[in-house]
Amino acid sequence: MADVPAPPTSRTQALFRWLDERAGLTTIWRTIFARPVPKTNWFYTLGSATLILALLQGLTGMLLTVYYVPSPDKAYDSIQYIMNEVAFGWLIRGMHHWGATLLVVLVFLHMLKAFFVGAYKYPREMTWLTGGVLLLLVLVMGFSGYLLPWNQKAYWATTVGTNIVGAVPVVGPLLLRIVRGGQEVGAVTLARFYGLHIWWIPAISAAVVAAHMYLIIRIGISAPPDRDE
Ligand code: HEM
Repeated sequence: MADVPAPPTSRTQALFRWLDERAGLTTIWRTIFARPVPKTNWFYTLGSATLILALLQGLTGMLLTVYYVPSPDKAYDSIQYIMNEVAFGWLIRGMHHWGATLLVVLVFLHMLKAFFVGAYKYPREMTWLTGGVLLLLVLVMGFSGYLLPWNQKAYWATTVGTNIVGAVPVVGPLLLRIVRGGQEVGAVTLARFYGLHIWWIPAISAAVVAAHMYLIIRIGISAPPDRDE
């Protein structure tokens, strides 16, 4: 008997099949999104909420760089310009500003949840440790971003914050000079913090988030313990 002809497919379906056969799209989708997960509760959405907010911070941050100028004589004015002249600039900056605070809160809540369900224990020690690194990165991200508006609050908060680095025994003064790029908070500090904020920390964070997610997919998440466990 002759083969039954395959049902006609639309162009999009045909294109998808072509791509899927070569790039394994269905496998990627199943591995990342359609993988089996234990029955959990709302607290288990805190990690994804953190991830989505971090991505949103990246997007609003990229938009801010279109108008922000990281130099002592222009930084403050460029922020005023974003807030008052650029279409929806106030919204993008507001989202980035409040998003930063919310991100710190979410990361802490997510960490507390992981702690309370004992997700730091075998076999998730590395998920916990990569998370610990992410916590530090989020804090450094917040600290480096705080200086960028270059207003009085930013300047003095950074002066006080970097003084703490200078209080480290023996190597403190050297660390202080490295962090500030000189004796005082100035143009070099601003350039250094901007570089950290838009390039170094995001690049390192992307790699650590990838490791965190790889471990979550490979090992799976812990199920919340039952009353009798
Ligand atoms: C940018 C920061 C972070 C992102 C984007 C992130 C993302 C995620 C996501 C999406 C999950 C899976 C869903 C869930 O259980 O909520 C997860 C799980 C986990 N995360 Fe994070 N995380 C971050 C920071 C942290 C921190 C600070 C810690 C702890 C020090 C941590 C430790 C863990 C652990 C142990 C799990 C497994 C939870 C379980 O199996 O119950 N993460 N993370």
